[in-house]
Amino acid sequence: MKNLKATAIAHSNIAFIKYWGKKDEKLHLPLNNSLSVNLDNLITKTTVEFSETFKKDQIFIDGQTVQGEKEKRVVDHLNRVRKMAKICLKAKVISKNNFPTASGLASSASGFAALSLASTKALGLSLSEKDLSILARLGSGSACRSIPDGFVEWYKGKDHQTSYAKGLFPPSYWSLSIIVLLIETKEKKTFSNQGHQLVWTSPFFKERLKNIDKKIFLIKKYLQEKNFLKFGQIVEDEALELHSIMLTSKPALIYWQPETIKAIKYIYFLREKGLPVFFTIDAGSNLFLISQKKDEKDLIRELKKEYSEKKIIINHPSKGAFLIKDYQVEGD
Ligand code: DP6
Repeated sequence: MKNLKATAIAHSNIAFIKYWGKKDEKLHLPLNNSLSVNLDNLITKTTVEFSETFKKDQIFIDGQTVQGEKEKRVVDHLNRVRKMAKICLKAKVISKNNFPTASGLASSASGFAALSLASTKALGLSLSEKDLSILARLGSGSACRSIPDGFVEWYKGKDHQTSYAKGLFPPSYWSLSIIVLLIETKEKKTFSNQGHQLVWTSPFFKERLKNIDKKIFLIKKYLQEKNFLKFGQIVEDEALELHSIMLTSKPALIYWQPETIKAIKYIYFLREKGLPVFFTIDAGSNLFLISQKKDEKDLIRELKKEYSEKKIIINHPSKGAFLIKDYQVEGD
C-alpha cells in the first residue's frame, strides 16, 4: 500500500473584525463576516499518517497525547475526511505549535487548517482552496481563515457550502507588523466555543449585528486605501466591542488580566507620544499590537522598556496553509 502520509504547515490568524456568535453551532456558521490576516510567526506543523496497522487514532500535540474534548474534536475532523475519501483507516496525527497552545493565540485556527490540508492530502484528496476552507471551518470556525494567503475575509454565507474564507490581498500587500504581547501562557478556562453560545445573553449583541456590515465596509475601504490610522482605530474599537459583549454576557466572560489593562494603557501612552500603534485582543488576555513595519523598531524598543523579550512575538502578514515534504514521523 502506498504511503498515506502528508505534512502541512498553517499559520494562526488574527481577526480585525471578529467572529463572535454562530448561526449554526455544529457547522460553525457565523452571524457576521470577519476579516483577518495570517501571522508568519505563529505556526502549526502537522503530519497525518493513515495505516491499517493503527488500531485507533492517536493524536499528539506538542509531544503530548490529547484526550477528552480536544481528542474528540480532532477525531471528528478525521472522520469527516475519511468519509470524503471513503477510507476508514485509523490515523496518527503529530502536531506542533511554535507558540503556547490555548493561550488565546488561536492554536485551533492553525491547528485545524494544517490538519485539514495534511489529512486530505494523505488520503489522496486534492481539495480546492474554497473546499479546504469549508472543511477547516467544521473543525474550528476561525481555521477557515488560515487557509487562503494574506489578508482574508470569511463570508458568513447562507449555508455550509457558501461559508468560507477568501484572500482579499496577498501578504506583501501591506507591510504591517503584528506583535503579540504575551500576558499569560496557561490554558484558558473558557474556550471560545462556549463563549459563542452566550452572545445573545448580552443586551448589546443585537446592536453589534445591526452595525457590523457598515464596519466591514469601512475597514475594507481603509485596507484598500492603506489608511493606517483609520484602519487601526476600527480594529481597536472592534476589540473593545467584542470584549463589551463578553463582559455583559451571562455569565460574564472576563478574559482580561490586570496586566491586560496595564498594556492597553501603555499602548495609549505610546500613541500619545506619537507612535502609531493599535491593539486587538481575542478570547484571551494577550494583546496583538498592530503597527506599520516602518515603526516596528521604535515600537519594539519602547516595548522592551516594559516587557521582557520572551513576552514579545513579532509577526508579519503570511501566506496560508501549504504542504511540505517531511518524512519524519515521531517527535522530530
Ligand atoms: C474571539 O474559531 O475559536 O478569536 O468555531 O467554536 O472553534 P469555534 O470558535 P473559534 O472562535 C474565535 C473567536 C475569536 C474571534 C475571531 O478569531 O474571529
